[in-house]
Amino acid sequence: MQVAPAVELESVSFAYGGGETVLREVDLRIGTGEFVALAGPNGGGKTTLLRLVLGLERPAAGAVRLYGEPAERFSARDTLGYLPQRASLALDAPVTVREIVAAGTLPARGVFGPLRRADRARVDEAIALVGLAERTDDQLRLLSGGQQQRAMIAKALAGRPRLLALDEPTTGVDAESQEALGELLARLHDDLGVTILYVSHEFGAVEHHVERLVLVRGAIVFDGPPSELPGLWHDPSHVHV
Ligand SMILES: Nc1ncnc2c1ncn2[C@@H]1O[C@H](COP(=O)(O)OP(=O)(O)OP(=O)(O)O)[C@@H](O)[C@H]1O
Ligand SMILES: [Mg+2]
Repeated sequence: MQVAPAVELESVSFAYGGGETVLREVDLRIGTGEFVALAGPNGGGKTTLLRLVLGLERPAAGAVRLYGEPAERFSARDTLGYLPQRASLALDAPVTVREIVAAGTLPARGVFGPLRRADRARVDEAIALVGLAERTDDQLRLLSGGQQQRAMIAKALAGRPRLLALDEPTTGVDAESQEALGELLARLHDDLGVTILYVSHEFGAVEHHVERLVLVRGAIVFDGPPSELPGLWHDPSHVHV
C-alpha cells in the first residue's frame, strides 16, 4: 500500500468571505519528515496556506488532505502542533507558563481530562527545550515578549506532534534563542522524523536544515531547494521569481 504524504493540496483556491482570491491553484505535496520553509511577501498567503493545511479554513475549490484524510475532518488532531503568528499577543489572561504549555496537550486528553503524569512530563520537557524551566510557574504576562514567544513554541511542542507548523516563530526572539530553536527543530526532524513547516521572513536559524523552500505570493511561485535562489536567506521578501 502506498503511504499518503503528510500534506497534500490539489488545485486549491481560497478567498476570505467571498472576497478577492488569496491563493490560486495551489498544488503542494509534503512527504512525512520533510523540513519545508515557506517564504514570501506580507499578504502573500503564507498564514492562510498553513491554516488550510491544518484544516482551519476550507478551500473554495480543490482538496486538502492530511495523511490521506480530508484536513477539516482529520481525526488525529493531537498529532498536529501549531504556533499561530504572534500567538502571545492575544494572551493577557492570568495563566502560568506551565498552564499555557499544558493547553498544548489538550487534544490528547480532552478539555476536562486531568493532566496525567505522562502529560506533565511532556509539558516540563517542552518548557525545558525552549529554555524556560526556571520560569515554569511564573505568570506568562510577566515574561518578556521573546520569552512569551518561546512559551508558545513549547505549547506547540507539548503534544509531541508528528507535524509541526510554525508561523514566524522567531519574531521577537533573540539571536541565541533563535539558534537554540534551529538546533531543536533539526533534532526533532533528524531524530524523530517530525514534518516541519516553517513560515518566516528570516531563516538564519534554520538555513542549514531546510531542504525545500516554497515561495508564496498569491500562488506558489517557487518550490525547490533553497540553493536555487541565491541570496534568499538574507532577504526572502525581495527575491523575484
Ligand atoms: N481573516 C481574514 N479575513 C479577510 N482577509 C484576510 C484574513 N486574513 C488574511 N486576509 C487577507 O488574505 C491575504 C493573505 O494573508 P496572509 O495572512 O495569509 O498573508 P501572509 O503571507 O501570512 O502575510 P504576513 O507575511 O504579513 O504574515 C491578505 O491580503 C490579507 O489581507
Ligand atoms: Mg502571516
